Amino acid sequence: MHSSMGPSVKQNSSLAAGIDQISFYTSPYYLPLTLLAAQRGVDPNKYLVGLGQETMAVPAPDEDAVTLAANAAHPLMHRSDPHRCDPQHIGLLLFATESSVDQSKAAGLFVHKLLKLPARCQVIELKQACYAGAAALRYATRWAQDNPHKKALVLTADIARYELNSPGEPTQGCGAVALLVSANPRVLALDSSSGFYAQEVADFWRPNHKQEPIFDGKYSAKMYLTAAWNCWQHYTQQTQRQLHQLARVCYHLPLTNMACKAHAYLMTHISSHKPNEAQLMQQIADTLPYNRLTGNTYTASLFESLTCLLDRCQQDLGNQRIGLFAYGSGCMGEFFSAVVQPHYKQHLLTNRHRKLLNNRTQIGYDTYEAWFNNRALQQGPDCTFAASHAGPFRLAAIKQHKRIYVSQAPAL
Ligand code: CAA
Repeated sequence: MHSSMGPSVKQNSSLAAGIDQISFYTSPYYLPLTLLAAQRGVDPNKYLVGLGQETMAVPAPDEDAVTLAANAAHPLMHRSDPHRCDPQHIGLLLFATESSVDQSKAAGLFVHKLLKLPARCQVIELKQACYAGAAALRYATRWAQDNPHKKALVLTADIARYELNSPGEPTQGCGAVALLVSANPRVLALDSSSGFYAQEVADFWRPNHKQEPIFDGKYSAKMYLTAAWNCWQHYTQQTQRQLHQLARVCYHLPLTNMACKAHAYLMTHISSHKPNEAQLMQQIADTLPYNRLTGNTYTASLFESLTCLLDRCQQDLGNQRIGLFAYGSGCMGEFFSAVVQPHYKQHLLTNRHRKLLNNRTQIGYDTYEAWFNNRALQQGPDCTFAASHAGPFRLAAIKQHKRIYVSQAPAL
């Protein structure tokens, strides 16, 4: 390993458009994994230490991928800030999710209405498991270069739901990240080259008739590592960059220990030396704490890890290059990089994110199980949902299979 990590990067023309603003949102409810461990008769350290998870965000009955995404995007459009984005400037809305609410209609159309976006706006939903958010960001970045006077809104939102009592249960979670993408980004400029890996495998999938995925946990972790290594090799061939040239690396986080394993795998295979704990954590420690509290957020988890890094890193990352690894089961991976922009901290919603996580309400095991089992109501023809939270948007009812979302007082 080189002693100086993350040299400053000179701006140059190979840098593309990228992330102008980033906003994270999660359910206001959580279950401590110690309570789940007690219920399942498991040593809590298996979850806290072995998986690296502490609490899981539990969606209330009136929350779904649409409300999570709209609540993430709302402060970017409607906060009382002179730098906020005028909704009329959004020309593209890409919504990446694997918790879609409809097999035909794009979930983004509900958000389009809630955020009062203009009619001259392209709205599309993207799917490839947890990878789709990274794909959406890269498409939006290219679009922003071609449309420098407009902005794209990329939404990543998911409810990671596994069967009760299954090995995936303690990794459940929910959350969303909204990314405003522009030609002159104030937070992160994406590099144009990246490394890919695709292979058809049955590690984790969810047939149309099922609410929970079918998965082989150990095999999925093995495929994650295979994809990470192959994507890295492709990335380094394309760019000639080495791992030590990246100030930090953000990973897709199904559980925080997956990032530790993947980073150790890359470091060991690149240098033929197993890193010690301090070497391993230097590039990833600041990316993990938010996911440790929310659990898996599928498409959003890579960007939750990025938000966490930008919010929490004590060092000024301005002009530093960071790496990002996206993985979607099935499987598709991409390793890409980006340069953090000078003065990026002025444009973050760090206090809002901190408040959101600090002010969550703990629920007990019985409430968790009741909400889990009642989720089927969201698939039904008719139901009304009591207001469970004060977030800007919630699912109020389903009437004759039509989803009715309502706007509440702005919670900024
Ligand atoms: N104290 C400390 N550590 C303990 C412990 C204790 N008392 N008991 C167990 N552990 C450790 C184990 O040694 C193990 O550590 P290593 O992984 O370093 O070997 C760790 O806790 C987990 O224990 P197990 O392997 O026994 O756990 P498990 O078999 O119950 O399940 C899992 C782990 C496979 C990740 C499971 O949670 C799972 O299937 N999750 C869903 C699938 C998933 O997330 N896959 C990840 C890659 S796929 C992807 O990334 C896409 C996606 O989002 C789903």
